[in-house]
Amino acid sequence: MKKNTMKNRMKDFARKNLTALSLKFEDGKLLLLDQTRLPHEEVWLESFTPEDTISHIQRLAVRGAPLIGVAAALCLAQYAQSGASSEQIKSAAMRLREARPTAVNLMKAIDRMLETSDVTDFSPSALLEKAIEIFDEDVELCEKIATRAAKLIEDGDTILTHCNTGGLATAGVGTALGAIRKAHESRKKIHVYVDETRPLFQGSRLTAWELQKLGIPYTLICDHMAALLMSQGKIQKVFVGADRIARNGDSANKIGTFSIAIAAKYHHIPFYVVAPNTTVDETCLTGKDIPIEERGAEEVRLERSPKDCQVFNPAFDVTPAELITEIIRA
Ligand code: MRU
Repeated sequence: MKKNTMKNRMKDFARKNLTALSLKFEDGKLLLLDQTRLPHEEVWLESFTPEDTISHIQRLAVRGAPLIGVAAALCLAQYAQSGASSEQIKSAAMRLREARPTAVNLMKAIDRMLETSDVTDFSPSALLEKAIEIFDEDVELCEKIATRAAKLIEDGDTILTHCNTGGLATAGVGTALGAIRKAHESRKKIHVYVDETRPLFQGSRLTAWELQKLGIPYTLICDHMAALLMSQGKIQKVFVGADRIARNGDSANKIGTFSIAIAAKYHHIPFYVVAPNTTVDETCLTGKDIPIEERGAEEVRLERSPKDCQVFNPAFDVTPAELITEIIRA
C-alpha cells in the first residue's frame, strides 16, 4: 500500500469512534465505565497505558468475558498509535493476556492482535483495524445469539439469571441478558429473578442496574434462594453466560452457576448457556482443562468476618455439559 493511502486509512480508523454501554473509543482514546462504582456512580476511566487497562481488568472495573477481550485489543491499538515499539507491544500483549486467566476471549483477542504481523514489526493501522474488527464482531455475535436465544423465551416466562451478561459485559447487546432484553422488546411479558452473585454482586449491582434502565420487571434474590423458587414453580427457564466453554460443552461461568444447574436439572427446568464463539476453547477437551481464577480473600471476608479468617475464593465454576439443555452460540 502506498504511504499516503496508508496514512489516510489510518486517519479514517483513528476517526472511527466506538461506543458500547461500558466502553468508548474516542479519537484514539480508550474510555472504560468503572463497573465497581455502579449502580450509584457512573464514572468513566481513561486508560492511557497497558498497565492502566490491566489494572482495570484485574479489579473488575472492566469485566465480562467478551468485553475484556475487546478492551485489551483496543488498548494495544492505542498503545501502538502512541508510538510504542514492536517489542513494547509484544511485551504489553503478554501482560494483558495474563490479566485474568479464565475468560478465553481475552487470550483469543490478544492472539488475533499479534497475528496482524507475521514478523515482529507491528503496524499501528493494522492493529487498530483488527481491534475495531474484534469490537464489531462482538456486537454482531451478541446480536445473533441474543436473537436466537430470545426465541426460547415464551410470553409469561419467569427467568433466572446469574452474574451480569448484558451490555456492560460485551460490546453489544449482551449474551444471556441480551436474550432477555430481546424477548422483552418483542413484547413478551417476562419477569427476571436476579441472583445477587456473591462475592462481588455483579447481579445486584450490574444486572439490576441494566434491567432497571431497560424497564424489564425483575426481583433480586440471594444466590442460595434459587432452588426454593424452582421448587415453588416460580422459574421456567435459566439463562446464563460463559467465560470459557470446553470442546465437550462443559462451561465455566461465575461461581454459583454450577449449583443453579444442579437445582435446575432436579426440577426439570431448562438451563441455557448463551455465548459467542469467542468463548469456546477447542484446546480444552473438558472442563477439567479450564483454569479457574482464584481471587483475594478480602472480596469474601468484607467487614462481617474475623479479620484474618482463611478464605477460598474461586471466581468461576464449571457446569458439566450434561446439565446444560443447550448452548446458544454463533
Ligand atoms: O468476574 P466477571 O464479572 O468478569 O465474570 C463474568 C461472568 O461470569 C459472565 O457471566 C461471563 O463473562 C459472560 S459475560 C457475557
